[in-house]
Amino acid sequence: MDLTNAKVLVIGGAGFIGSHVVEELLKEDVKEVVIYDNFCRGTQENLEEALKDPRARIFELGGDVLHTDLLNKAMEGVDCVVHLAALWLLHCHEYPRSAFHVNIEGTFNVLEACVKNEIKRLVYSSSASVYGDALEIPMTEEHPYNNKTFYGATKIAGEHMCRAFYNRYGLNYVGLRYMNVYGPRQDYRGTYIAVIMKILDRIDKGLPPIVYGDGSQSYDFVFVSDVARANVCALKSDAVDRNYNVGSGTRTSIRELCEMILEITGSDLQIQYEPAGQTFVTNRIGSTERAESDLGFKYKVELKEGLRRLIAWRNAHKEAVEKRRRAVGIEGKK
Ligand SMILES: NC(=O)c1ccc[n+]([C@@H]2O[C@H](COP(=O)([O-])OP(=O)(O)OC[C@H]3O[C@@H](n4cnc5c(N)ncnc54)[C@H](O)[C@@H]3O)[C@@H](O)[C@H]2O)c1
Repeated sequence: MDLTNAKVLVIGGAGFIGSHVVEELLKEDVKEVVIYDNFCRGTQENLEEALKDPRARIFELGGDVLHTDLLNKAMEGVDCVVHLAALWLLHCHEYPRSAFHVNIEGTFNVLEACVKNEIKRLVYSSSASVYGDALEIPMTEEHPYNNKTFYGATKIAGEHMCRAFYNRYGLNYVGLRYMNVYGPRQDYRGTYIAVIMKILDRIDKGLPPIVYGDGSQSYDFVFVSDVARANVCALKSDAVDRNYNVGSGTRTSIRELCEMILEITGSDLQIQYEPAGQTFVTNRIGSTERAESDLGFKYKVELKEGLRRLIAWRNAHKEAVEKRRRAVGIEGKK
């Protein structure tokens, strides 16, 4: 769809990816970007830059996807919706019922409100978690739902709920399955991504970075502003009723990641290997072909460059990083 003069609602827009989506949308000729978020994980600081643009604002009456009257109010006059609100993997692991309410019922509420308010297009944030451990690499969008987690189960339900709303009511949507997203504003709660922040913390303290297991677990790291751009590509495209991988298609092991961080920071510390703890998946690399051909999306930021930008953000936002550390009970730097 054409975003010129469009009013866009970004649900979960104060979060890590959401705040970058808001910034990416503001590069377009949109009329308004409204952020709907209950701030259980998102922050005002994430939106500091975006809110300098008079076209951006936080919905003033509330922001919970479980509050259907407010959700409907927020959607009045809106052209398209980006739905990113969800509880994260470990939270869903600990609190499956909350996961059910927020990620499944909440998504149902969003879809219902979209139909009621005649939303022209929706982009749903799914996840590569729907695939679980890889049965083949790279994983195409046809890879089986090999997921075993509550989080992945909620994302599968979300995808299927979107499909049902499309078939029953014609709701125009696409789903995006993000691989491992990293970048400025990330915190310590991302299951695979937090490792980057923890490695950097250790290096800052002059301690050897710790890798659990032999470090051969491999992931597909994708920079957050690329993911934000994928959302805008998805809004603009004509694709409908399909899910797309959003990744770099590049395989990086945790050991390689750690070595890269040591190189970028100019550290001569050696990796310290510790026995493996709990891992949810050990191998996940997505095929990028479908997103490229249908959405015109291809990642731009290479891992080394993305890590440099993340480190620059950490250095410029020491207080915000400290807050993120405290939020997960990690001892501060002092
Ligand atoms: N970060 C990743 O690597 C990754 C990978 C795959 C999929 N995803 C998906 O992308 C989306 C965004 O992820 P993120 O990393 O930015 O996470 P995030 O937690 O930073 O963002 C989610 C936002 O949703 C908000 N939210 C939570 N519950 C809500 C509720 N009940 N009502 C309204 N808002 C609520 C939070 O406050 C937060 O701002 C999520 O749907 C996530 O599952 C993320």
